[in-house]
Amino acid sequence: MTGKNPVQLCIIAAMDIHGLIGQNNQLPWHLPEDLRHFKALTMGCPMIMGHRTFQSLPGLLPGRPHLVLSRHQLILQAPAYSHPNLEQALSHAAQFGDRAFVIGGAQIYALALSRADRLYLTRIEQAYCGDTWFPKWPEEDFACIESMSSNSTTGIHFRFETWQRLKHDF
Ligand SMILES: NC(=O)c1ccc[n+]([C@@H]2O[C@H](COP(=O)([O-])OP(=O)(O)OC[C@H]3O[C@@H](n4cnc5c(N)ncnc54)[C@H](OP(=O)(O)O)[C@@H]3O)[C@@H](O)[C@H]2O)c1
Repeated sequence: MTGKNPVQLCIIAAMDIHGLIGQNNQLPWHLPEDLRHFKALTMGCPMIMGHRTFQSLPGLLPGRPHLVLSRHQLILQAPAYSHPNLEQALSHAAQFGDRAFVIGGAQIYALALSRADRLYLTRIEQAYCGDTWFPKWPEEDFACIESMSSNSTTGIHFRFETWQRLKHDF
């Protein structure tokens, strides 16, 4: 972990060639390989997410605490917890281990990007229609340490990338 984060903070996101991440509070694509990649990376780790992303899930994802950001006190059952800000969610995440994932959506990526130690990005090599985009981020502050191209059984071409922060400002 680096900077003042109490955990290694990882962002995980899938986006199309224009940075699109969502449509009508859902993913714009069906990419089973990315769902498996998401599960493998996040399993056992706390996941920090926005209220809208939490509402978009089919249910609780097993094996992972859900730390949900909302400006309201949400009534949730463990292992889902309501948090009013990122700071509180990060402190809570540290109780579960030394790594946490920010899983979206756009509002929460925007909040977390300046704190992120690592980005796991799935780049889908085509364009979709939608309404929500990954925020602009300073690529020069990160190094791409892994990039793997692949083809989905659905015919979609995509790339798994890992970006590591070079230095923190704080
Ligand atoms: N492609 C991907 O990898 C990926 C991943 C995740 C999500 N998505 C997509 O992204 C879209 C959702 O993103 P979104 O940006 O609309 O919503 P979001 O970030 O998931 O959630 C927004 C909500 O988070 C809460 N929030 C926002 N800022 C806050 C702050 N500073 N403090 C406390 N709470 C705060 C608010 O909840 P309250 O209104 O309750 O206060 C707000 O309405 C969906 O289409 C989803 O499918 C895509």
